[in-house]
Amino acid sequence: MWPKDVGIKAMEVYFPAQYVDQAELEQFDGVSAGKYTVGLGQSKMGFCNDREDINSLCLTVVHRLMDRHKIKPEDVGRLEVGTETIIDKSKSIKSVLMQLFEPHGCTDIEGADTTNACYGGTAALLNAVAWVESSAWDGRLALVVAADNAVYAAGSARPTGGAGAIAMVVGSGAPLVIDRGVRASCMKHAYDFYKPNLKSEYPVVDGQLSIRCYLNALDNCYQTYCKKVKNKHNRSTSLDSFDAVLFHSPYCKLVQKSLARLAFIDFLKRSREEVSKKYPELTKFYDIKLEDTYFDKEVEKAFLNVSKTDFQTKTQPSLMISSQVGNMYTPSVYTGLASLLISKSAKELAGSKVGIFSYGSGLCSTMYSLSITNDYAEGSDLMKLVSGLSYIKPDLEARQKISPTDYTKVLASREQNCHVVPFTPESSISNMFPGTYYLVHMDEKYRRTYKRV
Ligand SMILES: CC(C)(COP(=O)(O)OP(=O)(O)OC[C@H]1O[C@@H](n2cnc3c(N)ncnc32)[C@H](O)[C@@H]1OP(=O)(O)O)[C@@H](O)C(=O)NCCC(=O)NCCS
Repeated sequence: MWPKDVGIKAMEVYFPAQYVDQAELEQFDGVSAGKYTVGLGQSKMGFCNDREDINSLCLTVVHRLMDRHKIKPEDVGRLEVGTETIIDKSKSIKSVLMQLFEPHGCTDIEGADTTNACYGGTAALLNAVAWVESSAWDGRLALVVAADNAVYAAGSARPTGGAGAIAMVVGSGAPLVIDRGVRASCMKHAYDFYKPNLKSEYPVVDGQLSIRCYLNALDNCYQTYCKKVKNKHNRSTSLDSFDAVLFHSPYCKLVQKSLARLAFIDFLKRSREEVSKKYPELTKFYDIKLEDTYFDKEVEKAFLNVSKTDFQTKTQPSLMISSQVGNMYTPSVYTGLASLLISKSAKELAGSKVGIFSYGSGLCSTMYSLSITNDYAEGSDLMKLVSGLSYIKPDLEARQKISPTDYTKVLASREQNCHVVPFTPESSISNMFPGTYYLVHMDEKYRRTYKRV
């Protein structure tokens, strides 16, 4: 017997209390107005000052999750962290998080950290689901944490940064059920984005290659997913099979293009006769090879148009946090899920099928789906999950805007102090959200101490 309805029971999203405005950044960087806001589709970018690091982000989000949902330390049997923000080559962030459990006598908690660029959160989630479905499961909950501080060196990639964390409760009887049976992955070796310099927070990134790799992985995952569904359930798949489609979001415009890409793949699956009857103006695209079209503006424009309504109804609602916080790396696609959940009522969400594409450079990617429960009654788990996220919009609004000049100074100081010890941060804690952990000091042995606002 499998445990029933294994999936996500509760979520907590955290983003820093300050941001830089992308329109102001365009001006500051001297690029044409609209490049970041329209061309990339980003309105604001969250960032950490010297008070926050990957440990503090994870401590904050897990502590808040447990408080808000009244989860006791002894309720947790597995804790997984997905991140690409590495501050220690040996000690896991999971072990740092044990500070929240050990004082309560709870040390029997499985799990450690998983890293592969923006994919680590998905690897952690799939591990947690597998544990709940395994013979080792003892009935307790799993917690999945995905967090990153995404910063780039000055240049064209810098506006695609962001920072934040998400924590999810995984167990049986969940209102968001990870569908069993069909999942599709595409894993390859690529140098599109990587962090070989351990003395720097910045990645080495080949922007154009990363877009090509992302779209190639998407094509592969979707085609494999469709094939597997056909083999297993003798059913064809198209965008019509999903009520919502979520993607990892490096920037919102790429997500819109990704949905268009799925519409293009659906189009190529039709017969020539059907295409000439239904889409006479698109027949010229029928014989094009997918891999020749990553940067084909004509194909892109045509299928952005074909998928326009699907984008507005199935994907755009998931981009709310991403457009206002930026690429949070591992949490990105899951903050997309949180955005979707707060964009509709529990009644509207009930019974929905959600397609999810997770991508991490290097590269690892997976497409899977989840089903939202039909039970949206007052007091139902779905209602509780959705109402537990009601703080997100007010918190986004409550953040403090920092000028591009000061933002650049913050990054310069992070560069200067990266791995320098002893270190005592100087930024004020007065604007942090209540419940936020902050770095107090790093001693000469690189040991970090934190306090909570
Ligand atoms: C994504 C990235 C490559 C873009 O940098 P760039 O090459 O300087 O940007 P571009 O010149 O391509 O401009 C970005 C978009 O804005 C558009 N644009 C430029 N100026 C504009 C303006 N004034 N108004 C509106 N749009 C504008 C461009 O046409 C382009 O659109 P397109 O992609 O649809 O062609 C860069 O930010 C990066 O490397 N980011 C990190 C890696 C990443 O996020 N990869 C994604 C996959 S993981």
